[in-house]
Amino acid sequence: MIVPLLDLKAQYNSIKTDIDSAVAEVFESQYFINGPQVKQCEKAISNYCNTSDAVGVSSGTDALLIALMVEGIGAGDEVITTDFSFFATAGSVARTGAKPVFVDIDPISYNIDPDQIRSKITSDTKAIIPVHLYGQVADMDPIMEIAEEYNLTVIEDGAQAIGAEYKGRRAGSIGHYGCFSFFPSKNLGTSGDGGIVVTNDPKRSEMLMIFRNHGSKPKYYHKFIGGNFRLDTLHAAVVLAKLPHLDSWSDVRKHNADRYRQLIEEKGLIDNGVISLPVEVANRHIYNQFVIRAEKRNDLQAYLKEKKIGTEVYYPVPFHSQECFAYLNQKDEFPESEAAANETLALPIYPELSDDQAIFVVNSIVGFYSDQRYI
Ligand SMILES: Cc1ncc(COP(=O)(O)O)c(C=O)c1O
Repeated sequence: MIVPLLDLKAQYNSIKTDIDSAVAEVFESQYFINGPQVKQCEKAISNYCNTSDAVGVSSGTDALLIALMVEGIGAGDEVITTDFSFFATAGSVARTGAKPVFVDIDPISYNIDPDQIRSKITSDTKAIIPVHLYGQVADMDPIMEIAEEYNLTVIEDGAQAIGAEYKGRRAGSIGHYGCFSFFPSKNLGTSGDGGIVVTNDPKRSEMLMIFRNHGSKPKYYHKFIGGNFRLDTLHAAVVLAKLPHLDSWSDVRKHNADRYRQLIEEKGLIDNGVISLPVEVANRHIYNQFVIRAEKRNDLQAYLKEKKIGTEVYYPVPFHSQECFAYLNQKDEFPESEAAANETLALPIYPELSDDQAIFVVNSIVGFYSDQRYI
């Protein structure tokens, strides 16, 4: 049996006619830039995220970058974020010229630890970027409280968390901006790169639209220096075709997570302490990733690879240890992000995963820990 980390062909085959006709429609129109599907997609995503506005952009990375640019964040400013995320979170801050300031994570949720934010605030701090890692919203109430107290902008990095909820509120609708990615491996992925920024502030929304088009309004008059951050019509059309399926896909991911939990517990892997399971912390978790902690993680990953089971380490190097951030010299202790980088492993959780495949994954994990070579 083969169990890939993700099976996009299976997803495509299940909705092939919808995708093919959405793409064909764009080709028929030849309206590749700012076609009507872009506005439709923005309307549909703002409805889905419970925000008044949404602005399609070229990627999740550019969603973060453009939000920072609209806020005028740059050299001399500091932006507080987690130490443990995909590179784009911190990279976007550094690209503006601002200084990313890292905070350790809560070991249960893997999200930024709100209790450690206050001590990192200085007179240069302008924003906080909480990341909703793996599909679970960060602890937003204390973050919003701190932001209000210090007058900081909150940019939610919801790239992995579209449709996730925190106390009944949708990811992206709590801060000043919510940034999402349509990268193909996300719960709502397009056929390439794409992203969107949601906001409840019409002024910010208008600025996002200006900045994604080289800062021009009217055309050829540039009050700001923006960029080409537009969402292609083709990607908007694909997202629109997939959106009606998103909730059922996320529900099946949750079902798969529950099944893994049950199988892993039944096999005694929790009781003997070799595996710990992801914890749902009062949110709707959309399981973009199902991430366990595992003893001898690297050996387990190699063993599963031999069994043709795809897994991934998200992420092996926390930001404070990245070579490109050595100049930041952030020597604070980040024990939890380091532990997560060393111990975590993502298992296949995609909606088309069969029960036989889930059983095979867990039996293979049992096989690893009972293999004499690894004891
Ligand atoms: C947490 C996080 N932030 C930002 C991004 C960037 O999104 P994109 O790949 O669409 O640029 C990703 C995507 O991988 C991500 O996982």
